[in-house]
Amino acid sequence: MAYCEPTFKAAQMSDTGAEWQVAQRRKGAARKSKSVQVSHTCSQEELDIEKTVRRIRDTVSELSCEDFWPQWKVAGSAARSKHLQNGDTEGGPCQQLECVCYGLGSFSSSVSARFQLAMLLLLLDAGQIPLKDCSVYDPAFSRGEKAVLRELGLTVLTENEEGKRLATKPTLFYLMHCGKALYNNLLWRNWSVRHLPLVTLIGNSFTGMMDRTVEREFTRDYRYITEALSLCEERQLPCPSRLIDVFSDTAVVTFPSGGLERLPQSTWAELPEPQYTHCSDLEIIQRETQS
Ligand SMILES: C[S@@+](CC[C@H](N)C(=O)[O-])C[C@H]1O[C@@H](n2cnc3c(N)ncnc32)[C@H](O)[C@@H]1O
Repeated sequence: MAYCEPTFKAAQMSDTGAEWQVAQRRKGAARKSKSVQVSHTCSQEELDIEKTVRRIRDTVSELSCEDFWPQWKVAGSAARSKHLQNGDTEGGPCQQLECVCYGLGSFSSSVSARFQLAMLLLLLDAGQIPLKDCSVYDPAFSRGEKAVLRELGLTVLTENEEGKRLATKPTLFYLMHCGKALYNNLLWRNWSVRHLPLVTLIGNSFTGMMDRTVEREFTRDYRYITEALSLCEERQLPCPSRLIDVFSDTAVVTFPSGGLERLPQSTWAELPEPQYTHCSDLEIIQRETQS
C-alpha cells in the first residue's frame, strides 16, 4: 500500500543534516508549521545505539525544563490517579496503568519523533508506568531504532496491530500526529461501556481532525471518531510555538463511564470493523494479509 503522504513527510524534521527534501501539504491536513517543511532519508542500520540513547536522555532533560511540561505532567499523573480512583470505587484491585504507543516515527532522523519519544518517557515517569509496560510500534522503525527502544527498557511490538488493541486494563495510548484510521481502529476495538473508560488517549484532538476534514468523508470513513466526539472529554495540551511541529493539536481524550452508561443500547450495537474501502489516501500502513 502506498504510504507517506506529503504531510507525513512534513513531520519528519531531520537533525542530522543529511539529504533534505521539501514536502507539500495535503488538502485538509493539519497545519503543523508555517516554516518550510522538510524530510530526509538516511541509513539507519548503522545507528550508534549508545549515542542515540544519550541524545534521547538529553532531550528528556531539556523537555523537563520547559514551561509547558508541568501541564503535560498533570495529564500523565491524572491518567494514573483516575484509574486508582476507579479501582477504589468499584471495590476491585487498583490496576497498574500500561501504555501503548503507535506511530512515533523515525526518531533517529526526525527531531519531532525524538521529542515525542522524550515526552513519552516523561509521561511514563509521571504516570508511574514501568518502562517494560509500555509497548511501542511503528512500521517505520529501523532495526537500530528498535534496539534503542529496547535499550531504553520499552517493549517493541513485532506485529502491526493497526491500532486494534483491546484495553483489558487501564491503558494510556500515545498516538502523536498519527493517521485518523489508527484512532478509528482503536475506538472500534474498544467500543463498549466496559472498555472505553479504560482508554486514556494522548494524541491529536478529535475536534481538530473533524474541523480539518470534509464532513461527508469524515463521517463516512471514521464513524467511531465521529461518534466519540459526543462521548469523550477532550482537554487540549499546551504547545509552545517553537515546538509546533512536534506537539501541536494534542489533547488528552477520556471516556467518563457515567456518561457512557446513560447512552441507549443502540450506541453499542452493530459495530462493523472499519474497512476504509472509499479512502483514497489511507494514512496508515495496514497488515499485509487482511483477515
Ligand atoms: C505523520 S507520521 C507521525 C510521525 C511522528 N509521530 C511525528 O509527529 O513526526 C505517522 C506515523 O504513523 C506510522 N504508522 C503508520 N501505520 C502504522 C501502524 N499500522 N501502526 C503504527 N504506526 C503506524 C508511520 O510509520 C508514521 O511514522
